[in-house]
Formats: sequence, C-alpha cells, structure tokens
Amino acid sequence: LCVEPGIAGPRIDCLPEPSGNQTVCESRGCIWNPVDNDIDGAPWCYFKDGVGYNLASQIGSTYILRKNNGPRNPWGADFENIQLRTSTIGGSVLNVKIGVDGRYEPPVDFPRETISTSETLSFTTASSDDLFWFSVIRNSTNRKIFDTSLGGLIFSDQFLQLSTYLPSENMYGWGENAHQSLKHNFSRYLTWGMLARDQPPNSGNLDTMNLYGVHPFYMCLEPDGNAHGVFIFNSNPQEVTTAPGPSLIYRTIGGNLDIYFFPGPTPALVTQQYLAFIGKPFLPSYWALGYQLSRYGYSGLDEMKQRVGAVRDAGIPLDIAVADIDYMNRYKDFSTNDNWAGFEDYVKQMHGWNMKMIPIFDPAVEADYLPFQRAMSMGAKFIEWDDYSQVQQDIQKLYPMAKDTKIMLGVVWPDHHVGFPDFLDSTGKTQAWWRDELELYHSKLTFDGIWIDMNEPANFGTNELHPWYFDDNDHPNDAPLFCPTNGSNQWDLPLFQTHAVYYYGGNQNNAYLSSKTLCLTGVQNNGSYRFYDVKNLYGLTEAIQTQAALMDVTGKRGAVVSRSTFPSAGRYAGHWLGDNTARWEDLRTSVIGAQEFNLFGIPYVGSDVCGFLGQSNEELCLRWQQMGAFHSFFRNHNTLGEPAQDPAVWPSVASATKTANLFRYQYLPYLFSLHFQASQNGLTVVQSREILQNATERCEEIPSSILVAPVLYQGAVTTNLYLPNDVWYSLFDYKYGSQIDAGYIIVPSPTTYRIPVFVRGGSAVPRQTPTTTTTMSRHNPFELLVAPCQMGRAVGVLYWDDGQKIVDSFDTHDFHQFNFNYNSTSSGAQLTISRTRKGTVVLPTMDIIEIFNYPSPPNFRSFTLNGSTVNINVQSSTYSGITKTLYISTKNL
Ligand code: GLC
Repeated sequence: LCVEPGIAGPRIDCLPEPSGNQTVCESRGCIWNPVDNDIDGAPWCYFKDGVGYNLASQIGSTYILRKNNGPRNPWGADFENIQLRTSTIGGSVLNVKIGVDGRYEPPVDFPRETISTSETLSFTTASSDDLFWFSVIRNSTNRKIFDTSLGGLIFSDQFLQLSTYLPSENMYGWGENAHQSLKHNFSRYLTWGMLARDQPPNSGNLDTMNLYGVHPFYMCLEPDGNAHGVFIFNSNPQEVTTAPGPSLIYRTIGGNLDIYFFPGPTPALVTQQYLAFIGKPFLPSYWALGYQLSRYGYSGLDEMKQRVGAVRDAGIPLDIAVADIDYMNRYKDFSTNDNWAGFEDYVKQMHGWNMKMIPIFDPAVEADYLPFQRAMSMGAKFIEWDDYSQVQQDIQKLYPMAKDTKIMLGVVWPDHHVGFPDFLDSTGKTQAWWRDELELYHSKLTFDGIWIDMNEPANFGTNELHPWYFDDNDHPNDAPLFCPTNGSNQWDLPLFQTHAVYYYGGNQNNAYLSSKTLCLTGVQNNGSYRFYDVKNLYGLTEAIQTQAALMDVTGKRGAVVSRSTFPSAGRYAGHWLGDNTARWEDLRTSVIGAQEFNLFGIPYVGSDVCGFLGQSNEELCLRWQQMGAFHSFFRNHNTLGEPAQDPAVWPSVASATKTANLFRYQYLPYLFSLHFQASQNGLTVVQSREILQNATERCEEIPSSILVAPVLYQGAVTTNLYLPNDVWYSLFDYKYGSQIDAGYIIVPSPTTYRIPVFVRGGSAVPRQTPTTTTTMSRHNPFELLVAPCQMGRAVGVLYWDDGQKIVDSFDTHDFHQFNFNYNSTSSGAQLTISRTRKGTVVLPTMDIIEIFNYPSPPNFRSFTLNGSTVNINVQSSTYSGITKTLYISTKNL
C-alpha cells in the first residue's frame, strides 16, 4: 500500500473509547501505532489483519462461517459459527444477511415491494488463508459496489462490525446527524453516531453527534454515474465510520447484519426501490403544504391570536397555527391551560378563515391524572422495568395509580413523573387508549394535524445528580431516573457503547446510552422486547398509531410530524430537523437535512424557520423565510424566552415572506403533484442538484422542474450557482422568463427580490393564482407555465384530489391526473392536455398559459390546443419580444 506522510491508510479502530492508551490497546491484541501529524484522524490503536471468519461450508446461498484464528473481539465473545444468507427480492434487490438464528429482529413491518428493473447485482465470495470476504457486483458494468476485503468482520452478542470499500466518494445519507455537506468526506476518519436522542443539532462545528432518528441508509454514485443504495436493517444503537479508501466501518451492538442492496441505476430508481421496500411516504393534506406559525412560550391564547393576527394583517399567506406545550395545563397531554380559555372558539374561528390548527402531544403522560387512570383501567401498557425489585420503589409509592405496576417512571415537561406508552403492545390496548384520548380531546378542541415530539423518547436528567431541569420550582417532588449501572447491567452498560457515548467522553450529559432517555434495561410488550433493542423504534411506533388515530378521529387526511424517525416513518409522518439555532450555519445544514430526509423517504420535511434556539435577526430570518418557502414542511418556530421572530416583526421580513409565500402558493399544484408522485411511486420531492449533476446526463429522467438557489450567507447580495446541463429560465423577478444556459452563473439576490428560482427547459408546470390560504387558492383558476427545452418540447403532470380525503389505495382514490404535452416546431405550436385519470372533484378552469421561448408573435404561427387550431390574437394574449414570453388568456378560447 502506498501511504502518504501523515496518512495512515485503512485502519479499523480498536480503541474508540475516549480514555484509551497503549496498554489497553495491546491488551486487546491490537496494534498501537501513533501517527505523527495525524491529518486524516486515523485511529492510533487498530485491529491486526485477519480479524474475521473463514468459510466452513456452503449450501446453495447459505454460507456457514466459522470464527478464524485471527484476532478476537475485545467487546465480548465472538460467535463461533454464523450464517450468511443471500437472496434476491423481486429480481433486483439483493439481501445479504449475516446472522445467528433466534436473535432479535426489529418488529417493523415493511411492505418489501419491488419495482421492476433490468439492472441486477450479484454476490461473490472470496477468501485468502483463513479469511472470508464477499463483494457485491453490478452485473451490467462489472463494478464492485461493496467489497468487504477490508476485513474486520466481527459478530458477538453485543458487538457486530462490518467494513467495506466503496466504489467512489460520492456517498450520501446515514442519519440522523447534522451533516455540513451532503456528500461525505472520505479524506479523514469520521464516526457518526446513530441512536435516537433528544440532541439539538450543532451545525456550528463539524459535529458527528447522533440526533433524533436513526437511518442506516446511503446512496452511492459510482464513477460512471450509476447509483446504488444500501440499507442495513438494524435498530440497535449503532455507528458508521467514513474513512479513507473510501471505506465504511459499520458497528452495531445487537441484532443481525441484514443488508439490502438497491441497484438503481439512477438516483431516482434507487429511491423508488428503497421506498417500495420500506414503504412510500404518506400524502399530506393539501393544507399541510401551507405556511405554519409556531412558537414555544406563548404567554397564552392572546399572544397566539396577536401573532397570528399580525401575520394575517401583513397579508402573508398563512394556513396553520401551531400550539406548543404552552396550551396544556402544566404540560399534561389532553388538557388545556387556563390562559388558553376560549381556544376551542378560536380554533373554530380560524377554521372559518380556512386556517388549520396543529397541537403538540408528547408521548409521556403524567402518572396521576385522568388520562393515565383511563390507561390503567383499559389495560394500556407503558415501558416497564424488567427487574423491578432493584429500583424506583420510592418513586412508585408516590403514584397510587401506578401502584403494583412495573412502569418505568421518568420526568419530562409535566410537574410529576410520567409513564411512556408502549406502542409495541401486541394486545392493541395501548393503541386503543391513545386513540380514545385523542378522540376525546378532539371532541373539545378540533385540531387538524398532530405534532409528536420528545419521542426518542426523551427523559430529563437520567443518571444526572444535578439535572438543570430540576432546579426549577416546577418540579418539587421529582427525582430523576437512575438506571442500574452496577457494572453487571449489560443493557445500560454494554462493553461497547458506541459513538453516542464515546464522543462526549467525560461529559455527563451524554455519558450513557440511557442519557436523556429511559434505561435501556427496560422492556416493552410484556417483556418480549428489550428497550435496548427497540428504543430507536419509539418514534416510528408512535407515529404509526398517531397517524391512524388522526385519520380515525378526524375522518380526514391531515398531517403528523414526528421528531424521532426510523426507516418507514415517512409512511406515517413528516419530520422537522429539530432544535436548530438561529445561525447561518443552521440555515445551511437545514438544506442538507431536507435533502437527506427525502432520500430517507420522509419528504414532508423542513427546519424551524428563523431558528429555534437563540435570538434570530432580521436578515437571517428573511433569508430563512425565503428558503423555507421551498421546503414541504414550512414552519416558523421559536423557543421559550426568545423575542418573537414571526415575519410580521420586521417590515422587510414581512414583505419578503409575503412575496415568497405567494410564490409558494402559486406553485402549490406543482408541489402537491410532487408529493402525490412521491406517495404513489416512492420518489423524492426535494432533491439535490449535486446528486443529479454527479449522476451525469440523467437529469431528464427525473421529474424535477424547479431549481432553487437559496441565499445562505450573511450579507450576500449575489448568488453564485451551477446550473446543470439543460436549458433554464429564470423565475426570479430580475430577468423573469429569460433563458439561461447551463454552467456557473452569478445572479443578483438582494433581499428585496425573491431568491433565485429557475424552471428547467422541458417542463410544463401547473400553478394557480395564489391567495392567503391554500384552501382559497385551490379554487382559483389554474395556469400552466410551459418552459420548452432546446427541441421545443415540454411535458408535465398535475394531480388533483379534494386535498383531504384519506388515501386507502391509489387504485381506488378519487383523483384527477392531467398530462401536459407541448411541442413547438417551425410550423407552429401544439399543446395537448390529456386527462389520464378522472376524479369527481370539481376543477377550476385553466385560464392562463404562459409559454417561454416562444419564437415569434402569436399571429405569425399557428397554435393548436388539444388538436384544434385556436386563434391567439392581441385580445387573448400578450407577447414580449424581449423575453420571448407568450401569455395567453384561454378564457375565450
Ligand atoms: C422540544 C421540541 C421543540 C419544542 C419544545 C417544547 O425541544 O423539539 O420544538 O418547542 O420541545 O415543546
């Protein structure tokens, strides 16, 4: 191996703990070899070559692997025999499962569907001396897309490791983390934690912390532009190291190594294949694509009314008022604070304005009030201790309602201890109780969507002697949760604890896997699941039940947004990127976060616009509003104690937000159609230009028409951007409609304009005259923007339903689908609008067709609409010879 100075070459870390030294390293049988000028951050203590298994036998596609004579695992006894099984699902998805029978499997019910593709992958094995390894090969190009010859396969009860070389550095995904670039950096060793935790992203520094959700999925673009995806179906605490090679070292502390390879070969096909497998995203109601106003810390209903009123008075399109925990009585779910008297009436009033309301519900319920009592009498389950004798008996005594239960009591926002509903309860009683509580509360407060938060699940002060939260007088009776950490507790103190613990070294706040959450020794479903195994599924399981309950209780399609997510969460909920900070860095990482969550199958995603923690400011908030207007989940949200940051606070922000929101509402039929396609076919809504660009020349296969170039730097008044290979037209106030060629361009972007937005040549984009709510906008006439490609053609699609009927299946769902087809030749232009699916919803008429790059005034050329020649004259059209834009009013045609 040729190694540059200061760069160590591939090493697999043998001492990830923060307090290691040479003695510990060598006692593990590993190599201690400090690197001078360690510029790639290579581990100083690493495994010797030869760690792994050899091939004992093979029957068909089952391989029996036996622990070889190489070094042994320092974190537990290696299994002497493990199995590797391969199978192909639907002819294209390759599954390689390395495991041991009878071990924990995550209880997640994926549809496991496939979509047909001619692209196939094959599995090959090799071995040298005593070491077995395998590769996955793309048959069409013979490219190795996964190659475990790097070594280091370890399989013990609580430490599993697998490493691979990658075919290129163009790798995207893994989460949830605050990535500062979408494409990972393989010039150095970086380990990313994956354990659901109530952990605000720190976008200010490169920070590899584990955040709220877990997504062991990546997409990689091979050097020739082919794309593939890899998903590791494992729900235990885990981590991945991205390392020079380029290589990946994946580690988990339970379950199996159950790996799925999706062949693509385009990025869109990878997404389609992954989402067919894990489940396609839910279709949000139409109104859920409207603008949302939120904050934590309204002093009462009056303040909410005042801020909602100010935003409406400023003429800013607004659809949704969001109620954070302030509306509850002492932060208890299903209760209302006295300061919020009249909330029911206000919600009715907002409904009259065509607005909607989304309240927050936290999973933790106080163990001493009616909803909890009803849970007990219905036989609902909560996360429990398995060995109750050890702990918490003094606390249990304070709660007669929880008497004789094994409920693990924790502390969240309410004044007294809380229990955490067990959404994996196989009796269904917990789910029925959760639904009933939502129904009862809905009978008083007619909410339209649900925000579920703190579902990692978060618990305050776990194992902390002096938790910050308990200093406040709200919590006089409470004692924090202490997990049994007597050294023998293999769940709370496993031998290998992952980056989620090691990254913070001595910092008590993150010192344990159980930090900020419940003890991993807990159990669910009557002891059949260990919390250690299923903790990362808590948000997903809560989302499943909450989405079902919302539909049941309202009879409509609304929207659920969840903080914690796991693969397939997008079927039930959207996501916001958590407690960001009002900083430019966080504005930038939110662009990446939204793109990643689209790859994870959760396209209803966005950030807390203007920043949650810290004080926002006029310029940052203005730019964030402008950018957020292009994210599906679009909510301004602020934390307790910070000054108001809704757009009405600053006239400049109000004006920019009004302009940005009107643009969003104008193009909402397009955004909705993207969501429709994502739900029906498993596609993304927001994609990264970078991925399209690296996937060379394949842009035309992806139904994306609008490119947005947000302004992400303080003081910027110009934007430097790259337009990929195609013809583009500006939708920006400055130079509206003008054609721009591919390549690098610099465009002015003063705060007083919209941010730069371009439509791609070849697109026919449906839109509507906007008003201040999505519901009213939906009644306005449609318009069609036609932006032809070089050849003069454009295509597009519109999906339209009533915006709120529940989708049981797209086969039976009541919707319209229109396909647009435009073709301009020297003899004239033809536009065909064909309805390929007819629904019953009454449609507005299409009153305007705007065509870019129309070569000559209309009276010089014939225009054919749906097969008939129509007379376009000065009464029915305007034409600009400068921008070559034809604007046709179709009312009289
Ligand atoms: C959590 C949420 C945040 C919310 C707060 C109060 O920090 O992430 O969005 O405002 O709790 O409910």
